[in-house]
Amino acid sequence: MSFDLVLFGGTGDLVWRKLMPALFQAFRHGTLPRDGRIIGVARDGLSDEQYRRLIEDRFARVELDKRPGPDEFGRFAQMLHYQRLDLSRPEDYGALKERLQQRHADTVVMYLATSPALFTTVCEQLAAAGLNTPATRIVLEKPLGHDLASNRAINDTVRHAFAEQQIFRIDHYLGKPSVQNLFALRFGNALFEPLWRRETIANIQVTIAEDLGVEKRGAFYDSTGALRDMVQNHALQLVCALAMEPPISSDADAIRDEKLKVLRSLRPWTGESIGQQAVRGQYGTGTVRGEPVRAYRQEAGVAPDSTTETFVALRTEIANWRWAGVPFFIRTGKRLAARDAHIVINFRPAPHAIYRAPLGAANRLVINLQPRDGLELHLLAQGQQQGRPLQAQPLVPVHLNLDFDQRFGSQRVGAYERLLLDVIDGRLNLFVRSDEQEAAWRWVEPLLDAWAGNEAGLRAYAAGSWGPSAASAMIARDGFCWSEEQ
Ligand code: BG6
Repeated sequence: MSFDLVLFGGTGDLVWRKLMPALFQAFRHGTLPRDGRIIGVARDGLSDEQYRRLIEDRFARVELDKRPGPDEFGRFAQMLHYQRLDLSRPEDYGALKERLQQRHADTVVMYLATSPALFTTVCEQLAAAGLNTPATRIVLEKPLGHDLASNRAINDTVRHAFAEQQIFRIDHYLGKPSVQNLFALRFGNALFEPLWRRETIANIQVTIAEDLGVEKRGAFYDSTGALRDMVQNHALQLVCALAMEPPISSDADAIRDEKLKVLRSLRPWTGESIGQQAVRGQYGTGTVRGEPVRAYRQEAGVAPDSTTETFVALRTEIANWRWAGVPFFIRTGKRLAARDAHIVINFRPAPHAIYRAPLGAANRLVINLQPRDGLELHLLAQGQQQGRPLQAQPLVPVHLNLDFDQRFGSQRVGAYERLLLDVIDGRLNLFVRSDEQEAAWRWVEPLLDAWAGNEAGLRAYAAGSWGPSAASAMIARDGFCWSEEQ
């Protein structure tokens, strides 16, 4: 199968940080079809050779084991090409078309690794130049819009030019091996399904913590915030994977139909719940990995009086028969104590106690997403207390621990590598449908409106901590605590 992969934003951050390393890994693993061209597209006047050198230089910043040796790069570089293109100039799209028509590849992928503000222009220009052929697939990076209306406007323009099955909306969390394992745990094993419901589960916690700050993306982040950057997409997709009904098949739409139902069942926000069940914070100065770090408002590109949230904690419920009344807690933030993404499923305690158990002890399933990918099942076991009556024998917590990185280490495929290959092969399972996105925007929008430009309720937290204490107070109102407090 032959393909042309056109990377709009071809000299940008995303291309050299994520896409090129992922494409190179696929090349190295032998999974990238060899009959392919990767065409970087940007405004600078570069030759193919200059573009290859630029990419080669950038590889010097990639982790050592993911960096090509000179020979390897030479072979990979033969796939790399460059096309100068000003996104708003119709004649430049004509030149791109000529280049693509040199060989009529079976599949043409247009990857929009540009600012989302340009998606509409690019799609209109592609359609005007006749570059929206049936062989074309279009890949859109998040965030798609900054609210429901702008998301709809972008989707309308894209759908005007491309059919839904040609549109690949990326949420790279869906490509992570750990998220694949979450699906496998639920839908490839029968063990947990009878327990996966309100009768047995007390609460579910989703944490995506980052120790990094906003890095070089201060200006972008300041107009985005954690709710748009992480919750509307990554965190809600995790909630979908946790709460959805088993799909009738592994078809893309069978999976997406079930995720959509979850998003539509999220309990809508009211003025009262926004006040009590949503916490936002912004990091101040602090210490991360032993180094002092500056406050968010001192970061380059960030307004000195910014009210943008860098931390969000939410409590929600899913209004359906399986989940009614079970709190789902979501928490994400920058400059937290560690890079740590995990899900905790807290089961209800045994209904009748004949043992003495530590206070609050119950079974718990921890799904570790990163930095390690694995499962921990927390059980209670009998210690060494012999010769005492049952009720005097204390139970102790023990863990069954499965480390998928250790088990499958060398066979693992990174998120972007997997997703890029899926696009080239035309598999939509791990991409987000427009109605899912709309439902997610609809749900977060009351929070966005309540928080916009409003400093009241924005809590400061020290960089390197687990966020504002209000997040602990929020979860404590239900009688629970976050995993690191347990
Ligand atoms: C991106 C966000 O979508 O996800 C970033 O825009 C965030 O702000 C990143 O850092 C986190 O991804 P990962 O794969 O490092 O958890």
